[in-house]
Amino acid sequence: MKTKYLSIVLLILFISVSCGYIGSKRVKPNDETTWIWTGPFTDDIAAKYKSIGREVLKESFLTLTGEVSRAMKEGGVPHAVQYCNMKAYPIIDSLSKANHVSIKRVAMKNRNPDNFMRAFEQELYKDYAMKHIQKMSIMDQVVLSKDNYLEYYAPIIVTAQCLACHGKPGTDIQPENYELIKSLYPDDKAIDHYVGDLRGMWRIRFMPTKQ
Ligand code: HEC
Repeated sequence: MKTKYLSIVLLILFISVSCGYIGSKRVKPNDETTWIWTGPFTDDIAAKYKSIGREVLKESFLTLTGEVSRAMKEGGVPHAVQYCNMKAYPIIDSLSKANHVSIKRVAMKNRNPDNFMRAFEQELYKDYAMKHIQKMSIMDQVVLSKDNYLEYYAPIIVTAQCLACHGKPGTDIQPENYELIKSLYPDDKAIDHYVGDLRGMWRIRFMPTKQ
């Protein structure tokens, strides 16, 4: 009797787990993990998407830097931290939908765990980092990734405005602000930066329906 009961429980558990798995694989139009690029990747495609990437980046950059510096003036770091996540902006969301893209910033020394670089991004980043150390210019680019996404990348460089949140704790980052950051992001690695450092990359992924 007991084993029968146990097997029914296990069966229900199995069904619900496998349904959940299938459910999570369902293709959603805004799920960027399903945006596998099946079309060609020619120089023309690269050039076309580079110009879309640049436009989207310009708008996203202006929104983010504009809003963060406005918030810093209004209420300093404690007020501004909430404006550093791109999900905070309806305007970024509409920009993504209008251009059929997802917009993200990724880093090796990341603050938000969602922003850690995947293996392919680490390869691109290594190349940027090597060139940056040698004072060579590092350019934005459109690539077809090893895992088959069409993506635009651009390097992110640290400026003086970033230090209050990404510089040295105790000197650039006020101790109470660092405490706040640590309480929001316990695994924070995005500190100890200097002006001119390579901080990470913008990543704009294109949805294949726009081919
Ligand atoms: C008010 C504090 C603050 C300032 C100023 C600030 N940042 Fe950030 N930054 C954050 C926070 C908080 C996050 C985590 C956002 C999230 O949850 O995605 C973040 C995330 C990032 C990320 C995404 C990768 C990661 O580590 O999660 C990059 C790249 C980045 N910042 C670069 C910059 C640059 C470049 C500047 C200066 C132009 C700057 N930040 C200024 C607080 C700040």
